[in-house]
Amino acid sequence: MKLWGGRFENQTEKAAFDFQSSIHVDRRMYREDIVGSIAHAKTLNRCGVLTDEETAVVEKALNEILRDIEAGVLQIGMDHEDIHTFVESTLTERVGDLGKKIHTGRSRNDQVATDFRLYLGREVDSIIELLEGLEATLLSLAEDNLDTILSGYTHMQKAQPLTLGHHLMAYFEMFRRDIERLQDAKKRIMIMPLGSGALAGTTFDLDREYTCDLLGFNDITYNSLDGVSDRDFAIETVSDLSLIMMHLSRFCEEIILWATGEFAYVEMDDGYSTGSSIMPQKKNPDMAELIRGKTGRVYGSNITLLTMMKSLPLAYNKDMQEDKEAVFDAIDTVKACLEVFTGMIGTTRFNRDRMYEASEDGYTNATDLADYLVRKGVPFRETHEISGQIVQFAIRQEKKLSELTLEELKGFSDLIDEDIYGEISVETCVGKRNLIGGPAREAVLKSIQRGKEFLRK
Ligand code: ARG
Repeated sequence: MKLWGGRFENQTEKAAFDFQSSIHVDRRMYREDIVGSIAHAKTLNRCGVLTDEETAVVEKALNEILRDIEAGVLQIGMDHEDIHTFVESTLTERVGDLGKKIHTGRSRNDQVATDFRLYLGREVDSIIELLEGLEATLLSLAEDNLDTILSGYTHMQKAQPLTLGHHLMAYFEMFRRDIERLQDAKKRIMIMPLGSGALAGTTFDLDREYTCDLLGFNDITYNSLDGVSDRDFAIETVSDLSLIMMHLSRFCEEIILWATGEFAYVEMDDGYSTGSSIMPQKKNPDMAELIRGKTGRVYGSNITLLTMMKSLPLAYNKDMQEDKEAVFDAIDTVKACLEVFTGMIGTTRFNRDRMYEASEDGYTNATDLADYLVRKGVPFRETHEISGQIVQFAIRQEKKLSELTLEELKGFSDLIDEDIYGEISVETCVGKRNLIGGPAREAVLKSIQRGKEFLRK
C-alpha cells in the first residue's frame, strides 16, 4: 500500500519497495502517529479545512484504530510502507473519502519528526524512572555499608582505604549526572515540527502553537527546513545513553572482578548468575558481562546516527529513515540493562570480612604514616620519603606497617611515638577523611542526604 502512485507509470519492484519500507521498525510509533494525526485534524478544523463534524468523525475513527491496535484486533500490515501510511490508509478504509483530507498541509517529513520526538520523550521519561530506581537501590546499599572498609585502587594497585558506602556513592553521582543530562535533552526533544510540511511549511494557516499545546510539546520549531531535517535531539539522547552504558559497564567490570575467587569481595545471587554446561563448580556473573558487552551496541548506535547525518544536505533525505532502528535499539538495550543491573546489584552479597582483610594488606595506610609526620612538623615531601623507606623495610620483613615495633619505626624518625598505631589503623585512615566528598561515615551520610534530596525533587 502506498500513497504516491499518481506520477508513476509502472509498479515499484517488490524488492525495491521492501527495501525502502520502514514499517517493521517504525510500527512501534503507532500511538504517536495517531495522537499526532488527531491534533493535526483539530488544527485543520481551526483553519477551516475540516468542519466540526468531519473533525469529530476523524477523531473518533483514529481513537478506534488506536484501541483496535492495542486490543490486537487490528494488525499493523507489513505491506504498508511505514506507520504513517498505515494509519492514513486505515483511516480512509474506515471513514471513506474524508480520510483523504487528513494529510492536508502535512508531509511525512514533519509527521515522522513529530512522532519520533513524542516517542523519544516518552522513552526518556521511562529511562529516567529506571535510573531513579537504581539510584534508590544504591542509596540504601550505601547506607548499609557506611562502615564497611575496603581498599580503594588506582592503577588496579591498592591505594588507600575507603568504605563501600563511599564507593557505591561514586556511582550514585554518575547516574545522577545521567539523569540530569536526559532531563536536559528532553527540553530539546519536546519541540514540535508539525507545520514544517515537506520542507517549506504550508499554504494553510495552521495554528502551530495550538497543535503544540494539544500534543504537550514545550515549543515549536522556528525554521521549516530545520524542523524536518534536525536529528540532533536523537543523537544527543543516544550519546547520553552511551554515557549510561559506560557507567554501567565500569560498575559491571568491578563486580566481575570482585566476584573472582582471588578477590571474593562479592557473591552474586543465584538469581542473577549462570552455570557452565561442563564445569560443575561454575557460577558466572553473566549479567554483568552481558551489560558490559552491550555497551558496544549503544556506542554503535551513536556512531550510526552521527555518520548517517554527516554531510546530509537540507532538508529531508531518505538516509534519515535509518535513525529509528539505531535509537530504538539503544533505548531497548539501556532499559533492559538498567532493569537487570538494579536487580543484580540489589541482591549481591558483599563479603565485608574479606574486604576488611584486604584493606589491611598492601600498605594502604602509608599516606597516613606520612601525614602523621606532617602533623609533627615535617614537610610532606620528606615524610613521603620516610614513609616510603618504612614501607620498603616492612616489605623485606614481610610485615604490615602496624606490625613494626616502635623501635624499628623510630629508626626512620624519632618523631614517631606510640600513638602511631592508632593513627594508621584503617579505621582511622577512613575516619579522618571527613571532609566534603570523603569516605568517612559523616561525609558519606551527607552525600546520601544530598542524594535523597535529589531523588525527592
Ligand atoms: N519512513 C520515513 C522515515 O522514517 C518517513 C518519512 C518519509 N518521507 C519521504 N518523503 N519519503 O524517515
